[in-house]
Amino acid sequence: MTQDELKQAVARTAIDYVVKNQIIGVGTGSTANFFIDELAKIKGDIKGAVASSEATAARLRGHGIEVFDLNDVPEIAVYIDGADEIDNSGAMIKGGGAALTREKIVASVAKQFVCIADGSKLVEVMGKFPLPVEVIPMARASVARELAKLGGTPKLRLKPGTEEAFVTDNGGYLLDVSGLSITEPKALEAQINQIVGVIAVGLFAARGANVCLLGTAEGVKTLKF
Ligand code: 5RP
Repeated sequence: MTQDELKQAVARTAIDYVVKNQIIGVGTGSTANFFIDELAKIKGDIKGAVASSEATAARLRGHGIEVFDLNDVPEIAVYIDGADEIDNSGAMIKGGGAALTREKIVASVAKQFVCIADGSKLVEVMGKFPLPVEVIPMARASVARELAKLGGTPKLRLKPGTEEAFVTDNGGYLLDVSGLSITEPKALEAQINQIVGVIAVGLFAARGANVCLLGTAEGVKTLKF
């Protein structure tokens, strides 16, 4: 099976976690896109969705799914999203698709976080995938110095094919931090959150996944945390 077929399989399985007549939190990325396409098939069963990015909002609307402003939604039954890495405790690195801050906000309001990922995303220790940190542009260099003190090598994310900084949906910049071995995700998340100028860090440990649907050649495995 290709990686896309594995992503499609978990996206299909995730439909079982959609709570009927509710507003669903929807993540960002290629796996989330497969999920949105599946969600469209049962759109009559849900009230609508809260999107974690402009790209996800556009795809949901393209399928005729109503997109709600999070400020108008007191609670979300389930948030469904992909991950760049996930460990055995349900902690994740996210933000490869640049939507980490809004993903974190929507996830914080959700009762349940269902992570959908192909099997390659499950790791013993996170950190091989560079950890994305969203920062206020004027703090790019000062935050980078602090991240270097933690042992990482931060690199400013650029717009593909240019030398210009990539700008997020929130007007932030992204520092992708390589060289970290994340043995204590909650502690590192708290430490990076303390750095002045950080908008959000792509470590989802304090609020990790409750369930992970993992696509493997043997089928979709369900991990519960
Ligand atoms: C976006 C994310 C994505 O969930 C993560 O990058 C995984 O993406 P994909 O499903 O394309 O592998 O965190 O900010």
